[in-house]
Amino acid sequence: MAFMRAPCISSLLFCFLIASTCALKSVPPTCERIECPSYDVVDQGNGFEIRRYNSTEWISTAPIEDISFVEATRTGFLQLFDYIQGKNAYNETIEMTGPVITEVSPSDGPFCASSFIVSFYVPKKNQADPPPADGLHLQKWGPTYAAVRQFSGFVSDDSLGQEAAALYSSLQGSNWASAVDQGRKADPTSAYTVAQYNSPFEFSGRVNEIWMLFSQESSNTI
Ligand SMILES: *[C@@H]1O[C@H](CO)[C@@H](O)[C@H](O)[C@H]1NC(C)=O
Ligand SMILES: *[C@@H]1O[C@H](CO)[C@@H](O)[C@H](O)[C@H]1NC(C)=O
Repeated sequence: MAFMRAPCISSLLFCFLIASTCALKSVPPTCERIECPSYDVVDQGNGFEIRRYNSTEWISTAPIEDISFVEATRTGFLQLFDYIQGKNAYNETIEMTGPVITEVSPSDGPFCASSFIVSFYVPKKNQADPPPADGLHLQKWGPTYAAVRQFSGFVSDDSLGQEAAALYSSLQGSNWASAVDQGRKADPTSAYTVAQYNSPFEFSGRVNEIWMLFSQESSNTI
């Protein structure tokens, strides 16, 4: 047993000694192949990581009403995939990026439908002049903080709420709890955001994240 545990202990020590190196381990492997927005890890806690993204641009669907996160994300993904394949005002093909994010908003609609906005990250190359397209809109985010929980496997409608609740409860008692609460008050329509880094055809090494977004300006605790 002691022998089997040795690597864990040494990697833990390694983390204490070189915290920034270990923080890099959380970067999803997909981002070694395709462009992802870069970020700085500003804090790590038990069950969460706090990141700071500099200004980013996203191409986003209109809100999609559905009872299923999985179905809504599929619908939005296909629209955005057409967009990067050239179905846009410039007939321009755009490189695939990661992650695909879905903003989840509870709604008062019938049958407990929720509202979902699915977005692709716009590559740096296209940020100056991303092609417009019918039914899609551009979102420009200023510097944004994200409380992040990573999980693996396929995202399912059943487990999503649990993952979001786990992130929320892991933040309680930390320096970030009130900043996250204020972020949610600032945008009450958005409960949380789900970031997925793999195509539906990849079965192993899948990485997903729950993000709760806030801005430093809305926080007094940092
Ligand atoms: C974000 O911007 C700041 C200030 O310009 C810079 O120091 C930092 O390296 C940037 N971080 C990333 C991840 O690009
Ligand atoms: C895009 O392609 C369509 C159909 O082939 C064509 O009618 C249109 O002029 C093209 N637009 C540009 C900006 O190249």
